[in-house]
Amino acid sequence: MKVLAVGGGGREHAIVETLKRSDARVFSIMKNRNPGIARASEDFLLCDETNVEKVVAWAARVGVDLAVIGPEAPLGYGLVDQLEAVSIPVVGPSREAARIELSKEFARDLMRRHAIPGLVEYQAFDDIADARRYIKEVNYPIVVKPIGLTGGKGVKVMGDHFHTKEEALAYVQEVLERRIGGQSRVLIERREDGEEFSLQAFTDGEHLAPMPLVQDYKRAEEGDRGPNTGGMGSISVVDGLLPFLRREDYETAVTIMRKAIEAMRSEGVPYKGILYGGFTSTPSGPKILEFNARFGDPEAMNVLPILEHDFLEVLWSIVDGKLKEEVSFRRKATVCKYVVPEGYGTKPLADQELHVDEAAIQQRGAILYYASVDERDGRIFTTTSRALAVVGVADDLGSAESLAEEGLAHVRGRVFMRHDIGKSSLVKQKVERMRALRGG
Ligand code: GLY
Repeated sequence: MKVLAVGGGGREHAIVETLKRSDARVFSIMKNRNPGIARASEDFLLCDETNVEKVVAWAARVGVDLAVIGPEAPLGYGLVDQLEAVSIPVVGPSREAARIELSKEFARDLMRRHAIPGLVEYQAFDDIADARRYIKEVNYPIVVKPIGLTGGKGVKVMGDHFHTKEEALAYVQEVLERRIGGQSRVLIERREDGEEFSLQAFTDGEHLAPMPLVQDYKRAEEGDRGPNTGGMGSISVVDGLLPFLRREDYETAVTIMRKAIEAMRSEGVPYKGILYGGFTSTPSGPKILEFNARFGDPEAMNVLPILEHDFLEVLWSIVDGKLKEEVSFRRKATVCKYVVPEGYGTKPLADQELHVDEAAIQQRGAILYYASVDERDGRIFTTTSRALAVVGVADDLGSAESLAEEGLAHVRGRVFMRHDIGKSSLVKQKVERMRALRGG
């Protein structure tokens, strides 16, 4: 079975390795030469994944039987629609269905139209005077979100990234003037306090199969400080829930995802592929921060190594509309830690050589996923994005964390990582914070 894998990051390296476990013959498209993906692929094309014409022509020439799309950007360029137009089945949503991620306003309006729980108070603006009036009037802390894609870096939160209404308004103005996220339009929402978690699910547009929950650590520095990033690492625990979360909140989160799928279907835009719900767990239940139309990155690297079901079978059942709602995962804890170039989050240092002792990492029992690095003449160089990830999989969180750290000791270069991710002290802080928010 020939499978096209689109994307060259850590998430896509995990997708490719999981396809290989299903004996797929992998053909890849990526911007930079990711050495892990290159090695696992029968052939690959170095090309911008949003160059739909080129991607489709290559996929047709290779004669792939199925395509899996990793990142969100090509979805917005209609890659799924164009592959399907040449009769290549795809795991991923059409451009119209991907609006659930591509337009934060569409996602909020969908929730409002269908009375889906987990919606926060929000309003969209393209006029600065209207936004000023709204910000002046509201008596709760707010979040400012560009409508379109910003790689996880465009959302600014009162209390974290700004502290006054004037600063909020200044950022609104910046989004409108500089068209951050691709539009001169902005969403202002009520800030909900709680711990964030990610729920990823397979869906064929009708059925939904949830994966274990993951917590992603978005801030660049230890102790959840510093600028927002695409994610510095992530954890999952043995029971597939998270230590700060109540089971009833998990059930509500799954219901919200199901209702979103139903809503899309009822509007004549069925959604198939991977649906990702980014949630905040609040004392009054989980609230949706965002939907994503793909696996999370790093979250894919937590769940895919412990997928028990045959990956290809699951992917085909999505395409065929016959997804079983029970996709099984091994009962393991996972800790994923990203290695990123010095300055990542503000001014990342690209083109620095990385030394990775793959054999030693493997010998320790950790998993290595390459991300946005570039392999040239057998040497590996950083780009401006996350470089590689090391994942520990074990019977408990502490052991998974130690494994990841043991693996990281074999990576050298002008890079940094968050050593606190998965450490019990940080997990405890989150449990206590949630307990305090719930009133003890
Ligand atoms: N980890 C957040 C994301 O994939 O969007």
